[in-house]
Amino acid sequence: MPIYNQVLIIYGSETGNTERAAEIMSHVLNQHDEITAETISAADLRVEEKLKNATAVLMGASTWDHGLPQDDFKLFMEEVPQALIEPLEVGIFGFGDPDGFPEAFCGATDEIRRWLKAANATVVGDNLRLGGDADELRQDLETFALKFVGVSNDLDPTHVIN
Ligand SMILES: Cc1cc2nc3c(=O)[nH]c(=O)nc-3n(C[C@H](O)[C@H](O)[C@H](O)COP(=O)(O)O)c2cc1C
Repeated sequence: MPIYNQVLIIYGSETGNTERAAEIMSHVLNQHDEITAETISAADLRVEEKLKNATAVLMGASTWDHGLPQDDFKLFMEEVPQALIEPLEVGIFGFGDPDGFPEAFCGATDEIRRWLKAANATVVGDNLRLGGDADELRQDLETFALKFVGVSNDLDPTHVIN
């Protein structure tokens, strides 16, 4: 039995990589009968409405400007009421470039974690920090999403993130 039956995946993506990652995770979660997952951009005006009905949320952003979350996600962090964030149980993922920005690789994920803790939300597990193309990292994304909801990865039981 999964820990969560409904998962909202909120993403901030400039060129589509983190958006694609959100879709991959939503897809694998929706393959389970007991789980419903949906993705929404941090820039979507309906995001606050969705949060009102959410408990389990995956939040992801790419990193820009030497360690900052992508603009849509940054604005979302600045504008969403803390009361909507506090009750959430959140897993964090993000994309960056470890070669181009070794000192700030996936810094957005650290920013998101700090922000969630300051809002008294519950952060679940370690940040997933990825460099590269979402489709090529499908297995890491699927394993992360399945681990978040507490079900094992049927596709490759040996590939588990600890
Ligand atoms: C101008 C520019 C600045 C960037 N800054 C960072 C950075 O500070 N840290 C990092 O890890 N990646 C950085 N990146 C890499 C992006 O985060 C990476 O390409 C990511 O996959 C983009 O995802 P998106 O399409 O979801 O926005 C930068 C890329 C560009 C083009």
